[in-house]
Amino acid sequence: MAVRSIKNCFDPVLRKQCEVVKNIDGELVALSEDMIETTLAAPGIGLAANQIGIPWRIFVVNLGVETEKDNLITLINPEITAMEGSELGEEGCLSIPDVVAKVKRATQIELKAVDLNGKDVRYEASGLLARALQHEMDHLNGILFWDSLGKIKRDILKRKFKKKIKEQSE
Ligand code: NI
Repeated sequence: MAVRSIKNCFDPVLRKQCEVVKNIDGELVALSEDMIETTLAAPGIGLAANQIGIPWRIFVVNLGVETEKDNLITLINPEITAMEGSELGEEGCLSIPDVVAKVKRATQIELKAVDLNGKDVRYEASGLLARALQHEMDHLNGILFWDSLGKIKRDILKRKFKKKIKEQSE
């Protein structure tokens, strides 16, 4: 297992429509283990494979996000099957560190996916977990959380983030 480096939001891989996973093999299990380790090390609530440069439909999320106990799971080819309600809440992303903004999300969702054993799984989620699942789903479709903000607000955040990257590279 290894902590992988996380791509930032200007990397084109973050804009990819990610590919459906066809085979659950040793390579995918190893990828999943690295993604979990990378999420724990960051630390973050979730991570999509394209954030470490792999444009496949797979993400990890911490089911224990609202508790003290970490419970990271891997979801393959996930699909949101129902959404209800709407709520503004603060959000951030490991690919845009230290930038947060309020994003509107459904308050309750249902999701289906395949787990690492190839078994169909379903989850119902609300609150912060529902938000995290919607955020990770967006990554698989090349969408970043600031895309839903107005252009002016997004450009301010982009400039702030670019400045930060520049400062760190000097
Ligand atoms: Ni993210």
